[in-house]
Amino acid sequence: MDKAIIKVDENGFYGQFGGAYIPEMLYPNIEELRENYESIMASGDFREEFDRLLRDYVGRPTPLYFANRLSEKYGAKIYLKREDLCHTGAHKINNTVGQIILARKLNKKRIIAETGAGQHGVATATVCALMGMECTVYMGAVDMERQKPNVERMRILGANVVPANSGSKTLKDATNEAMRQWINNPVDTHYIIGSVVGPHPYPEMVARFQSVISAEMKVQLMEKEGRENPDLVIACVGGGSNAAGAFYHYYNQADVRLIAVEAAGLGVLSGKSAATTVLGKPGILHGSRTLLMQTADGQVVEPHSISAGLDYPGIGPVHAHLFDSGRGEFVAVEDEHAMQAGIELSRLEGIIPAIESAHAFHALKQIKYRSSDVIVINLSGRGDKDLETYIKWGNY
Ligand SMILES: Cc1ncc(COP(=O)(O)O)c(C=O)c1O
Repeated sequence: MDKAIIKVDENGFYGQFGGAYIPEMLYPNIEELRENYESIMASGDFREEFDRLLRDYVGRPTPLYFANRLSEKYGAKIYLKREDLCHTGAHKINNTVGQIILARKLNKKRIIAETGAGQHGVATATVCALMGMECTVYMGAVDMERQKPNVERMRILGANVVPANSGSKTLKDATNEAMRQWINNPVDTHYIIGSVVGPHPYPEMVARFQSVISAEMKVQLMEKEGRENPDLVIACVGGGSNAAGAFYHYYNQADVRLIAVEAAGLGVLSGKSAATTVLGKPGILHGSRTLLMQTADGQVVEPHSISAGLDYPGIGPVHAHLFDSGRGEFVAVEDEHAMQAGIELSRLEGIIPAIESAHAFHALKQIKYRSSDVIVINLSGRGDKDLETYIKWGNY
């Protein structure tokens, strides 16, 4: 395979990353999904319901907004893909709408999910309410503390929120707990994974649900710029679902630079970071082979980021491959810089971004581009859930 061509193979590999490394007891669940997801997603009634809900319920297409003052400040043509305007406040709902329809078609009665920032948990609780399905969301105890409004939103929507108390009490621990629960309830339960991580077919399935982002970008750029391709697409990467969605239709367009922004926490080399491509080595995390931060003997290193959604020790296999092949450019942004970028966007454009998304904005200071470039930044979510973090930081 040409290294620059990004395409998943039938075993779920992007280059050397991906696959399904799962305990025997999970095999039937994953196999059922793998055998059915493509035919269900290709069926006319799935597409009809998915498209209708994205339009009428989520509020798609989301605008592609020309950010005038930001463009002036940075000396390029900068557009924002407004995923922050989606129902529930972030891109996560695109995927949960797709997976809940899929789960219903597989006759599942219960939904489980993990969440970090709480956005995926809220998006899952929302579609469960919409479809009248039982919902349990696992969330690290630390994340429950720093994302309190989202915990209450999930509860209002009728979900049961269960704290994960192991390890760093953050996203990876919530994911471990959700996987354990799935093994114990294989028949009636679907696990809605919230990013392009996990065993095959999750990474590709989630990327395809999120690919609506770049599908819309192409149409909108054609209208505004007379061409489908921007020069750069910039997106933050936790597990990598908003970035995968924003990159998807540009993976194999060599003239589009794909900029993936990781969290450098207190500094890449501070020991408190989530800069996986700088610090990570190949290994197995949550069922797939990918890059992850680990000790010499293979123990997962606890990540750190001020943003709960980027606080993850790995990245999805497609991003590991984007990095490995050189197709993607990876940048790491520190907590402090992300916060400053969040305030700057608020003051320049009247948009308070999620702190995850704020990382993508600081990348403008860390990369080179030309003044003629058309840049799309994927604004993955709104900052409402992060008000307490902004207030605690206080520097505005
Ligand atoms: C607004 C927002 N952006 C980005 C992320 C990171 O996830 P992903 O990398 O899968 O897009 C999250 C995760 O919760 C989020 O809430």
